[in-house]
Amino acid sequence: MTANLTKAEFDVYRYDPTKDAKPRYQRYTLELAPHTPVLSALLQIRAEVDPSLSLRYSCRHAICGSCAMQINSKSRLACQTQIGPEMAKHGRIVIEPMRNQPVIRDLVVDQSPFWRQYDRIEPHLKLDPAHPMPVGQPTSMSPEEVERFKETPRCIACGACYSACPAVESDPEFPGPMALAKLYRFVVDPRDHAHQDRLLRIQPGGLWLCLRCHLCTESCPKDVRPSERIRDLKELAITAQGATEHGSRHAVGFKDNLPDAGVLNEMKLVRQTYGLVGTLGQLGQGIRIYRKKPEILRKPHPIQGVEEVRKIYRALDREEGKE
Ligand code: SF4
Ligand code: SF4
Ligand code: FES
Repeated sequence: MTANLTKAEFDVYRYDPTKDAKPRYQRYTLELAPHTPVLSALLQIRAEVDPSLSLRYSCRHAICGSCAMQINSKSRLACQTQIGPEMAKHGRIVIEPMRNQPVIRDLVVDQSPFWRQYDRIEPHLKLDPAHPMPVGQPTSMSPEEVERFKETPRCIACGACYSACPAVESDPEFPGPMALAKLYRFVVDPRDHAHQDRLLRIQPGGLWLCLRCHLCTESCPKDVRPSERIRDLKELAITAQGATEHGSRHAVGFKDNLPDAGVLNEMKLVRQTYGLVGTLGQLGQGIRIYRKKPEILRKPHPIQGVEEVRKIYRALDREEGKE
């Protein structure tokens, strides 16, 4: 091994659905400088070792969003991920295609599900027909109005967040973090005339399926912070339309319930979320939980320090101007 070079082992996912019964991992070993991007290593493998390896890329500068893949189980851009830190942390570099999208071949996925969800949110301004955009003139916005969506235009549509999202994995109809972040951008744009309709449609359309795990924000190479934009959308939806269905009622119930005792009253939360009739529909699951955790039926005693919890709530309410 040369002084400045690192021996790097790559276990690369290989699968051609037209020929292979199942996927396999192929090991390639190269000697490379630690700052070498994973994408450059893959291109070297393809040029010098195995021309059959398929991958997608274009700009090589974290701009086009084409080279997103799973690198040591994290959704990353291959052109932005250096091999040195990966080798130091994991001892090898496992490279797999993005998740939540079918594999076309090797590291190339079919991104139709991702783009279908993007189309679904109708990502374009919808103007008031009575006040069309003045032709040939700028439509001004205040700096504060622009500030509200300053992160979302940074998105390069790489799909790393979609690949990382467990809500997409459990329900492919969930719009996904990128589509919701884009939706937020139009909801807060003062020129858009359809924001109420957008909020109305997205509530039963999947907004509340987000698990708040923040994996999308961790994986985003452009700091769009989609999970924060989804949180903002939820707040906007409740403010504009009230708690109209299970997800929003659960969120509001959670907030109202906690200061009573400093711990959740779970039975009360079920009633707050589903209402009386809906709670009866949850009876089967309730009995299963009761068998494992009989104390669920007891009203919780206030914890030591409950007054501290209430103080936090009051401080938050003051911040929001509700007290
Ligand atoms: S925070 Fe929500 S949108 Fe983001 S990865 Fe988790 S479930 Fe998906
Ligand atoms: S939000 Fe971030 S991770 Fe998701 S598509 Fe846009 S740039 Fe990629
Ligand atoms: S090749 Fe363009 S973002 Fe990586």
